[in-house]
Amino acid sequence: MRVILLGCPGAGKGTQAKVICERYHIPQISTGDMLRAAVNEGSDLGKQVASIMSSGALVPDDIMIQLVQKRITDPDCANGFLLDGFPRTVPQAIALHDAKISIDHIIEIYVDDETVIRRLSGRWVHPGSGRAYHIDFNPPLVPGKDDITGDSLIQRDDDKESTVRHRLKVYYDQTIPLLDYYTHLANSSEEHAPMFSQINGNLPVAQVTKEIFSILG
Ligand code: AP5
Repeated sequence: MRVILLGCPGAGKGTQAKVICERYHIPQISTGDMLRAAVNEGSDLGKQVASIMSSGALVPDDIMIQLVQKRITDPDCANGFLLDGFPRTVPQAIALHDAKISIDHIIEIYVDDETVIRRLSGRWVHPGSGRAYHIDFNPPLVPGKDDITGDSLIQRDDDKESTVRHRLKVYYDQTIPLLDYYTHLANSSEEHAPMFSQINGNLPVAQVTKEIFSILG
């Protein structure tokens, strides 16, 4: 199964990606996690993207397309994958399509802006795995520690309110046009056209998961 999760910052893509991937035994390809790992390693890619990411802007399309096209040739993607955070622009989506990488399900999780601000200001993340918690809505079993490894949790640089508002603006300007793109593709007569669904991400985590599972079957 090949799935794309779309949604603004803080919509819950990463949270839902974890449970979907566990249930369907497919890898989660989070472009944000891949880029953060590159920044932490201090690789050439990391040096190139660090300041772009902390400003809340998007990394150039050519870098992202190359990164994802390479990742999905890895053996663990043979039976499918979940893309979390890619595509994020129409040119990125067109590149997937032109590379004949067909997708079964595209799911947009929508959430209102004020909910996003509340969520991201209370988010704590396990840097090794990308597991996300929230101090009120989804707290870890032990405060400040990852449930699985016990490692310390951190807050992301780009979760400051001013940066989150900029990330939302970037989302409306550059990613929202993808909704039209995928609506047209889903309604086309093209062979292997994906199914496109939209889900209310303002609901509690478990309810959003239930809706996603009912779409994926
Ligand atoms: P990325 O890491 O992809 O960030 P994002 O899209 O902004 O998404 P987030 O990780 O902030 O949110 P999420 O939807 O995963 O929410 P989460 O589940 O954590 O990208 C970071 C940067 O990398 C970009 O700004 C850009 O610079 C660059 N980049 C990445 N991909 C790129 C691309 N393709 N092209 C160009 N640049 C790219 O949940 C958030 C919080 O809410 C958590 O605390 C969680 O516990 C809580 N929560 C989740 N669901 C619920 C719920 N239903 N109810 C209550 N709380 C909830």
